[in-house]
Amino acid sequence: MRQPLFFKLIYYEAIRPIERIISVLYNDTMTANEFRQMYIDFFISKQHVEISGKSLIPDNDPTVLFTTAGMHPLVPYLLGQDHPAGKRLVDVQKCIRTGDIEEVGDASHLTFFEMLGNWSLRDYFKKEAIAWSYEFLTSPQYLGLEHDRLSVTIFAGDEDAPYDQESYDIWRSLNIPHERIYPLPKEDNWWGPAGKTGPCGPDSEMFYDTGLEPCGADCRPGCSCGKYFEVWNDVFMQYNKQADGTYELLPKPCVDTGMGVERTLTMLLGLKNVYETELFTPIINSIAAISGRDYAESESVTASFRVIADHIKTSVMILGDDYGVKPSNIGQGYILRRLIRRAVRHGLKLGIEENFLSTVAEAVLKIYRGVYNELTERRDTIISELTLEETQFRRTLEHGHREFDKVLPNLLRNPRKIIPGRVAFHLYDTFGFPVELTEELASEHGLTVDKDGFENEFKKHQETSKKGADKVFKGGLQDNSVMSTRYHTATHLLHEALRRVLGDHVAQKGSNITPERLRFDFVHNQPMTDEEKKAVEEMVNKKIAENLQISMDTMTLQQARDLNARALFEGKYDEQVKVYRIGDFSTEVCGGPHVKAAGELGVFKIMKEQSISRGVRRIRGVLMEGG
Ligand code: ALA
Repeated sequence: MRQPLFFKLIYYEAIRPIERIISVLYNDTMTANEFRQMYIDFFISKQHVEISGKSLIPDNDPTVLFTTAGMHPLVPYLLGQDHPAGKRLVDVQKCIRTGDIEEVGDASHLTFFEMLGNWSLRDYFKKEAIAWSYEFLTSPQYLGLEHDRLSVTIFAGDEDAPYDQESYDIWRSLNIPHERIYPLPKEDNWWGPAGKTGPCGPDSEMFYDTGLEPCGADCRPGCSCGKYFEVWNDVFMQYNKQADGTYELLPKPCVDTGMGVERTLTMLLGLKNVYETELFTPIINSIAAISGRDYAESESVTASFRVIADHIKTSVMILGDDYGVKPSNIGQGYILRRLIRRAVRHGLKLGIEENFLSTVAEAVLKIYRGVYNELTERRDTIISELTLEETQFRRTLEHGHREFDKVLPNLLRNPRKIIPGRVAFHLYDTFGFPVELTEELASEHGLTVDKDGFENEFKKHQETSKKGADKVFKGGLQDNSVMSTRYHTATHLLHEALRRVLGDHVAQKGSNITPERLRFDFVHNQPMTDEEKKAVEEMVNKKIAENLQISMDTMTLQQARDLNARALFEGKYDEQVKVYRIGDFSTEVCGGPHVKAAGELGVFKIMKEQSISRGVRRIRGVLMEGG
């Protein structure tokens, strides 16, 4: 046992540093791989264990669509559970943030990025975390940044938590002068929980002075003018935010730090923006080759290149993720669809009329080969899903164009030369024709679009479609065919039987129904035994044999709760809800549709029972002809 540790020590303490010095002497530019590895190695030398990054889709957290920071997959450990790998961890986590999707195209916004992080789970705290951050940033063996160009921020204190004197003292002990330590309020120096509740606390951020002149008297770390480049964030998880908004002290605090790979690499290499790094240039080059356009041609061309590069990279990451998200009209699938469609539209702006996303995707795959193996494994799905969505969207656009041409003569007769919002909305709603395109076409004919009118129509539609989308999600039904309807009723029977056999902890997590099978996700901590599966099947089949009648009543959510009806995503239900009852066996809030009597279903069989994430099981079941 001793030898490997001994060799490891020699390697990290002696060989690695020499390798670094040689590469600096030879003015070797750092690659993304080297940068990630350097970070991991540094923390391994501080007794951290490397863990793999997790899925982009957070487990069991309905409040967020994507993993937006490294903490998501680690929340249970931050809150107190022991992590199997130990108390000091280091990782690279894929993250997606789509809040600023419209900003993509400028020099800094990205929807996908990689985050390096080191973690203390009730082990070291501020002193070590800050000292190591400082060492990694300034040591010539590592990033070798200049001490004099570093500024830091700390939490200024408010009614929830005090001024962070401890971090201040630590930074001072590392010779960061008082003037370069900025106390800032919660908006800047507090890391909130992943969802509405959970671990959180003050943070200390590190900034590097790029040498630009200050933009004004108020210019300070956090200013967006570009003078201060944020490199790292050390979060001190000291609190657990409660549902009522109060902060409870964690029995023992944790550390969560985050350093963005793309941004930091940009800074280290002295580049102007992330698109100039090797994590983007091959994608930019492939778009240039396809379009025959020059990336630097004009601001709008540059922006279109960036939108395509960013969006297709993120789409590849979503499609390549373990969860198998596909383009759709809800949840993660909707974001994916939006990303793909925006990329196609920006392709059109560059004059790309043929399918091209799969070629761009290949460039993305090549960049991450050997880094994220799941992408290589899912290459075929990634390519085929992108192509399918692109083809469909191009068809949609074509229909829209034709429709536009049809209505054009009428529109031209309008003396005000304004396309009514209602017409623009019709093009959008029926043909999926984006209003920006309608505007573009309109301007070619000297017309404008009544955008307010369009927005009004859009809002009206959103309200209706939100209800529709919820219904699809809750029921998980793709269509209203006879078979799907039968499977839907079978799902209710299954849900109730699972609760009766396994216990009241069983709660529905998701459902997906096609005319061929049902799929039902539910909370349960261990695999079902063969006896349990058999008991569930028998209970469902007994209710089918009893030919229980299905009835539906409309009532308020409160009345449904009083009836003890099962309800998924309760908060989202309208006041008036439909409650379906199957005899006296099952009562569930649901949008329907259902069969009239259980006897129609045939014989139910569980085909597969498996884990899909921590604490969530999935059953696939089929209905067979009754004998
Ligand atoms: N989770 C922290 C961040 O994203 C470290 O900045």
